[in-house]
Amino acid sequence: MKALISAGGRGTRLRPITYTLNKHLFPIANKPMIFYALERIKETGIKEVAININNGDKEIQEVVGDGKKWGLNLTYLEQKGGALGLAHVVKNAKDWIGKDELLFYLGDNIISGSIKSLVEKFKNNKLDCLLALSKVNDPTRFGVPVFKGERIVKVEEKPDKPKSDFAVTGIYVYSNQIIEAVEAIEPSQREELEISDAHTYLIEKGAKVGYEEITGWWKDTGKPEDLLEGNGLVLATIPNKILGALDKNVKIRGRVFIGKNTKIGKNVNITGPVVIGEGCRIKDSSIESYTSVDDNCEIRGTDIYNSIVCSGSQIIDCKKRIANSLIGRDCSIVSENFTKPHGHRLIIGDNTQIEL
Ligand code: DAU
Repeated sequence: MKALISAGGRGTRLRPITYTLNKHLFPIANKPMIFYALERIKETGIKEVAININNGDKEIQEVVGDGKKWGLNLTYLEQKGGALGLAHVVKNAKDWIGKDELLFYLGDNIISGSIKSLVEKFKNNKLDCLLALSKVNDPTRFGVPVFKGERIVKVEEKPDKPKSDFAVTGIYVYSNQIIEAVEAIEPSQREELEISDAHTYLIEKGAKVGYEEITGWWKDTGKPEDLLEGNGLVLATIPNKILGALDKNVKIRGRVFIGKNTKIGKNVNITGPVVIGEGCRIKDSSIESYTSVDDNCEIRGTDIYNSIVCSGSQIIDCKKRIANSLIGRDCSIVSENFTKPHGHRLIIGDNTQIEL
């Protein structure tokens, strides 16, 4: 069995961050999101892995490299013609897949548990397709299975009126029959080759389609709030470790990881789960639950809660508490006192969201 990870697409729901960073490299608990997919795949024992990337994308290759770090043999496949849908990702990889079975893993999905049991169930039950399902509050955002008794008889993509409260997650295991399916289906109304249509095709052709409910948490990180939630879920599992230097009055509660060469100065409260990367400088601040601060950031005179701060950013003397925020790389957020008496000074890119 080979594994294919999707890491292309436009990331429109995460603009402006995705103008300059491929969403699959966005840090979740200070680790590029795609690393979680690679770790999960490594656990299954699969060695041959391809990553689907946008045409001309070099960023993912630079960060992920040749896969040796995970003991994987990595290939990069450019999605010819553009981001034309998830079934198109598989179709585009047809030559690389050859006659093998396939684990297809959407690179923006993160899950808590191992996926080894999914692959085992697929093999033991001699399935052609195994769909990993998860119960969700808002099925209209996902591929939704339609059940007849215990059987899935159809998968509907983002239906207005979902017929079950399950989402088909972005983890799929296939026999080689998936190639026939992705070649047979037609583009949807939004001009994409939908993976849900490929699943319905397999069902209608009488292929053996099974499913398994994911019992731990699962997150599709399509929107900013999903990234924050995914970040919080991963933070709840980080090791409690302090490698940096702490001022003697620093107050730490809960699960906290602090990287090397980081200095936590006076008047700092840290309430975990929190991760702070390497080379950071923090003083006179509160870093509160579910916050990740990546390498080389400076935070002074600021309270921050449930947020992700990417590397190289500085947040200085913000009198207002920062909460539920995504702050990109090398950003600067400073007190209005720096620019008084003129007013707030803003240099912000397209699609930025700010509350003043
Ligand atoms: O996360 C689960 C959901 O993923 C499923 O329930 C849906 O059935 C499935 O269609 C998909 O829906 P999304 O709207 O979340 O898919 P999205 O367009 O966000 O793409 C998922 C991943 O695949 C993301 O990592 C980007 C990448 N991608 C996407 C497209 C359309 C590609 O690499 N190439 C593409 O052409």
